[in-house]
Amino acid sequence: MKNILFVASEGVPFIKTGGLADVVGSLPKCVDKRYFDVRVMLPKYTCIPQEWKDKMEFKTSFYMDFNWKNEYVGILEAKVDGVIYYFIDNESMFGGFRPYSNNVYDDIVKFTFFSKAALSAMPLLGFRPDVIHCHDWQTGLVPVYLRERFQGNPFFHGIKSVMTIHNLKFQGKWDVKTIKEISGLDESYFTPDKLEAYKNANLLKGGLVYADAITTVSDTYAREIMTPFYGESLDGLLRAREHDLRGIVNGIDYKDYNPENDKYIDFRYNAKNFRKEKIKNKRNLQKELGLEQNDKIMMIGIVSRLTDQKGFDLIAYMMDELCQDAVQIVVLGTGDEQYENMFRHFDWKYSNKVSANIYYSEEMSHKIYAACDAFLMPSLFEPCGLSQLMSLRYGTLPIVRETGGLKDTVEPYNEYESTGTGFSFVNYNAHEMLATVRYAEKIYYDKKREWNKMIDRAMAADFSWEVSALKYQEMYDWLIG
Ligand code: ADP
Ligand code: GLC
Repeated sequence: MKNILFVASEGVPFIKTGGLADVVGSLPKCVDKRYFDVRVMLPKYTCIPQEWKDKMEFKTSFYMDFNWKNEYVGILEAKVDGVIYYFIDNESMFGGFRPYSNNVYDDIVKFTFFSKAALSAMPLLGFRPDVIHCHDWQTGLVPVYLRERFQGNPFFHGIKSVMTIHNLKFQGKWDVKTIKEISGLDESYFTPDKLEAYKNANLLKGGLVYADAITTVSDTYAREIMTPFYGESLDGLLRAREHDLRGIVNGIDYKDYNPENDKYIDFRYNAKNFRKEKIKNKRNLQKELGLEQNDKIMMIGIVSRLTDQKGFDLIAYMMDELCQDAVQIVVLGTGDEQYENMFRHFDWKYSNKVSANIYYSEEMSHKIYAACDAFLMPSLFEPCGLSQLMSLRYGTLPIVRETGGLKDTVEPYNEYESTGTGFSFVNYNAHEMLATVRYAEKIYYDKKREWNKMIDRAMAADFSWEVSALKYQEMYDWLIG
């Protein structure tokens, strides 16, 4: 049996702000249990819902030197769906209403603590990982501490580490002096071949330098991040580590996201009966959100963090024009105030066509995936993207920009060969986006049979974890030898 420990800052069902949590919550369940024991370590945020805290059991605790203080570290354990989760507890570190704050410095302190505590806790778990699998900048120091600090301890001898990049934009950067103090790492780590990048200390860079293998969440993004445009200033390092870098496309949980038995949707459907049943969800949502009650009108959904990454400047630029068409636009999201207000404004201006739902709701997200005809995701960059996979699964055709995982998972419609599962455009350009949405409208209104055949193909596409979990297994085998 090979032991794998995920260390991450969020994971479904305990705590989620985005796709990282979906991956951390679903991949461990799908790795072959005959050969791998995959467990997950997360911070015990005070904002984790009580029903999940009730499932945790206290295991042990200790004190750890951190940032000139002696800090409490509690370890709790829970088992959900056959997966064991460990939680690192310290209320002053992981308090607040959300897992991340708006202040990078606070988050750097919090996740440096988490990374150090995660490693210090390992010898007490009764579970020695062969591979520690780290996710994003919050756990970037884990491979650093593993290689350098814990080298002398025989428990850690031979443990390998993987760093998975879910989003290269966020790196955990602060000045060298401060990070040196917080982390307790000495001068020698803060050179440009290690943690320093452009005069700052950079936690993700530490992870990328010290990890034994690097992965990211799609093939295309793996190639893109070796270029200056997508490389977020780390493209040089990623090129240097090209042979240790691979792209493994994400899957989604096919049990949680299944239109046939989804507890959140009013009318369940499958690949055989969607022609009759799916539309009932649209009818209900139109009623619930106060949109025009009209079976025929094309409904376009957006479920997203409202940030520049997702292409909202293109949408903002084209909203007025788009709203002249026969479409309804349903948005669910939170994020940058300018985009929240932009959608509120258009909801007010075109009240029977646009519905802005500026909040977070798992239930509403499922209703939108089920009810809409199309799903719009014109991202500037997209490491993988899960929303388009959820849309495909619900027969809601994605309209995307060809970047990162969007390019790898949505096959553009080809009207001559009758292939494809969605619509896509190449350049980050508002007019190209609008033209593509209008092309989709044309197929929706004028070639309904073609549209429905596309839904057949979309719902038949397989983005469960089956194939990708095997690729992670191969990588673990290769690392462990
Ligand atoms: P990212 O991780 O960059 O935010 P992904 O497409 O990988 O993008 O994953 C986003 C996940 O978060 C999906 O599961 C999506 O349904 C969910 N999500 C985003 N915004 C909301 C919201 N306001 N309410 C509910 N779920 C949301
Ligand atoms: C990040 C990316 C998204 C990806 C998710 C899970 O949040 O923005 O594209 O799907 O991580 O890997």
